[in-house]
Amino acid sequence: MTPRARVIVTRRLPEPVERQLAAEFDVRLNATDVPSSPASLAEALREADGVVCTITDTLDAAVLATAPRRARILANFGVGHGHIDLGAARAAGVVVTNTPGVLTDDTADLTMTLLLATARRAGEGERMVRSGTWSGWRPTQLLGTRVTGKSLGIVGYGRIGRAVAARARLGFRMTVMTFDPMLPPAGEASPGVRQCASLEELLAASDFVSLHCPATPDTRHLIGAPQLARLRPHAILVNTARGDVIDEAALVDALGRQQLAAVGLDVYEHEPAVSPGLLATDRVVLLPHVGSATIETRTAMGMCVLANLRAFFAGHAPPDRVA
Ligand code: DGY
Repeated sequence: MTPRARVIVTRRLPEPVERQLAAEFDVRLNATDVPSSPASLAEALREADGVVCTITDTLDAAVLATAPRRARILANFGVGHGHIDLGAARAAGVVVTNTPGVLTDDTADLTMTLLLATARRAGEGERMVRSGTWSGWRPTQLLGTRVTGKSLGIVGYGRIGRAVAARARLGFRMTVMTFDPMLPPAGEASPGVRQCASLEELLAASDFVSLHCPATPDTRHLIGAPQLARLRPHAILVNTARGDVIDEAALVDALGRQQLAAVGLDVYEHEPAVSPGLLATDRVVLLPHVGSATIETRTAMGMCVLANLRAFFAGHAPPDRVA
């Protein structure tokens, strides 16, 4: 009988996923859920045939240069792979896979949660009730901004951007526009959704802006001081993509200058650290990177990881190969 492939998993995964991994592979799970240091990632690469990693594992060129290395596949639990140096993985002959598709709807739902919570000042209201400082209904209390019928600019029109557009158009009758440099420069990006000529045009024309681009060297600080200055003072910015798409220091500064009205964030430039200036600002809604955090999606992500490992170790092309 051929020995089962040795697989090391860096974080706790939903129980059905861990059970299936243990049924198919010689697996080492992480019962403590403590994030891996570079040294323990290097050890995993030395000891296992495959490593199941997540966004909390920095697999840079130094870690991927581990020698001798036994691992031939990094099966990432997540769609974003900015934490893995794909060039270094390719150079080292390590296959990298991700889990696309299965988290689209839940991430789009969370985007709408943040957009609505920010516009309707739900964070401030929740804090008021919980702290016992709510003294009762007042006609002028916590007046927010209407969402229905407003304009929404979507930066990055991939699967999640499109799912947000559908919710905004159908559910909230919003006028949706997008900017995505991967699409033809003008015209409709999809029926009823106009592709703006530039990011600047989108920023200046939108009541709400939502970010849906991947983390790449090109998108780092895509939203910095000059871009924030294009927003209108009533604009609301939402980010459920990756933290370093926004220059967080510039964002704190822009909020202080009232260059925009409010911000809803699920991701941060230096996760899990959050800029003190954001924590201190009332009209900011902050969530702990939970875009894909439903039982259904996290289990489906695990099943994608399994499908990739299964195919790879059977000598087939893994379905979600990114390097
Ligand atoms: C993703 O899949 O990219 C989620 O943000 C978790 O990493």
